[in-house]
Amino acid sequence: MITSSVLEVESLTLTAASGEVLVDKVGFSLAAGESLGLVGESGSGKSLTLRAILGLLPRGVEQTGGTIRSKAVSAMVFQDPRGSLDPLCPVVKQVTEVVYYRQKTSLRAARSIALELLMRLGLPDSLATKDRYPSQLSGGQCQRVVIALALACKPGILLCDEPTTALDVTVQRQIIDTITNLQQELGFAMVFVTHNLAIAANLCARLAVMKQGRIVEYGATPALLQHPAEAYTQMLIDSVLPLPELEGGGI
Ligand SMILES: Nc1ncnc2c1ncn2[C@@H]1O[C@H](COP(=O)(O)OP(=O)(O)OP(=O)(O)O)[C@@H](O)[C@H]1O
Ligand SMILES: [Mg+2]
Repeated sequence: MITSSVLEVESLTLTAASGEVLVDKVGFSLAAGESLGLVGESGSGKSLTLRAILGLLPRGVEQTGGTIRSKAVSAMVFQDPRGSLDPLCPVVKQVTEVVYYRQKTSLRAARSIALELLMRLGLPDSLATKDRYPSQLSGGQCQRVVIALALACKPGILLCDEPTTALDVTVQRQIIDTITNLQQELGFAMVFVTHNLAIAANLCARLAVMKQGRIVEYGATPALLQHPAEAYTQMLIDSVLPLPELEGGGI
């Protein structure tokens, strides 16, 4: 069988030290350049699933079953932008360091790659002459820096954990548009975790709905939205739709 998948998760089971099963036989696959939306209520196991893919499970959680096969480098965009930046290091320097270590370039080349990436993500040109600390940037700008840090690893798979939840709706929209454009340009595959089914539906060709550690529904986005098999999915749909952009109109 010919397969172009860059990521295959099969029967992934994660268990807490107490013995509680937190993620139960979760499985999905991701083709090169494809986007999968992982949606579901708080505590359903979305972040733990991403962390398992990244190989960075928190203390006290263990993989007790299943396999993760990945053919590409993964990088993660964490939910809290300020928390994932070093407050004591200016941002151009932070991105430069990641490029330097991950892409093995000279420091000079790393800086110019970092600046190009930051400009592409919509950060101000003035950073080239005057670097700034995270505290001197807005929340939206910090989130763009965090995305630049992830992309500096040249990932084949970008794992996004609620990357826009903390931002206001217009900035959310801009950042999602930026991610979409970069994905088309750079061709990375993406697992996009969000509470917001409307965002996932706009961004992802396939959706997986998680509840209490399990995937309860999985399929192509239009079919899943039009004919949800699970009452839980219907509830998610009812709670966010209709949205203006999905109706094709404005307010
Ligand atoms: N280090 C840990 N030790 C024990 N249990 C944990 C640990 N981290 C998470 N959990 C539990 O695992 C379950 C899944 O957590 P996870 O963070 O994956 O949820 P989530 O779907 O990302 O939720 P949210 O939408 O709120 O971010 C939760 O019940 C949580 O309490
Ligand atoms: Mg989470």
